[in-house]
Amino acid sequence: MTSILHNGADPAQIASAAALLAAGEVVAVPTETVYGLAADALNQTSVRRVFEIKGRPLIDPLIVHVAGWEMLETLAHTNQRAKRLAERFWPGPLTIILRKKPIVPDLVTANGPTVAIRMPGAPVMRTILKAAQKPLAAPSANPFGYISPTTAAHVRDSLGDRLGHIVDGGPCAHGVESTIVDLSDDAKPARILRHGPITREALQTALGETVDLSPEKTAPSDEKAGLAAPGMLSRHYSPHTACELIEAGVAPVVPEGVRAAWVLLRRPKAAAKPANADIFFLSENGSLEEAARNVFALLRALDKGRYERIFMETPPAEGIGMALRDRLRRAAARG
Ligand code: TXA
Ligand code: MG
Repeated sequence: MTSILHNGADPAQIASAAALLAAGEVVAVPTETVYGLAADALNQTSVRRVFEIKGRPLIDPLIVHVAGWEMLETLAHTNQRAKRLAERFWPGPLTIILRKKPIVPDLVTANGPTVAIRMPGAPVMRTILKAAQKPLAAPSANPFGYISPTTAAHVRDSLGDRLGHIVDGGPCAHGVESTIVDLSDDAKPARILRHGPITREALQTALGETVDLSPEKTAPSDEKAGLAAPGMLSRHYSPHTACELIEAGVAPVVPEGVRAAWVLLRRPKAAAKPANADIFFLSENGSLEEAARNVFALLRALDKGRYERIFMETPPAEGIGMALRDRLRRAAARG
């Protein structure tokens, strides 16, 4: 199969993609975070195809994308804190975990009692959701465990032979996946399950209360027995090339004869002494937002086979740097 590329700037082509989704087809779509592999969330056959195309285990639940609050209310039990975060951050890169209603297929939630929901902000995706009139289940449009796609070309490169349709909406504005916050239990503090573009500080300000963090990671041995917390697989977003995180400001120690790439957060000064590695950088001036936009595209490019080892500078633990640290750590995790 060769996938058909729909031009996201052409209203007729967006409309045809929305009609395909409404009819039960799987279509890759652009969002402001990463590209998603979308299907009608209420159609089990379509959702099953998403898992198959991605090679994703059925124990890993999907995020459901909605056109607005009314659509959300058909799927989940809402609460005051969810309402507040939705008013502040939607449409946008925030996913909220709530208790599901029976209409949501167990396949979508991996048999769990909760459902992950977000209202995306990318204009093309919003148009598709409004036209399709369906909640759309969409994981990132990459083979399970590989680097998330931030352009239509990335989707085509890794899933083009298994997928009929891709909507091209240009490069993603944020470049890392949405922040996931668990609000499913009113008696418990809000808890971040995945760092993303919406920071902990921003959530705390909006809620006027402390927001907890998930434990750093589950041990790989736990994962074989099933997921303690969904989405917390330590190895994820992984290039095939071996990756290593190194301290900021420290040159990598490259073993003799190893072809290595060194990824910095900002353009190095001309005077910087070159290491025994080719140097790449994620932003001109150290902007973490710019680094997040570029990180997956660079990792994909470096993973095309020229290098045996990728060394990556550890981002600072602030703002979207938290999300970058998390993704790079998982890219570097083995096992
Ligand atoms: O930005 C994003 O969130 C992108 C775009 C396409 O919207 N989507 C995305 O989906 O990153 P995915 O499937 O690659 O990652 C969703 C994560 C998974 O790690 C999954 O385990 C977790 O969300 N998740 C889904 N439902 C959950 C639930 N009910 N409770 C806890 N975690 C859940
Ligand atoms: Mg993913």
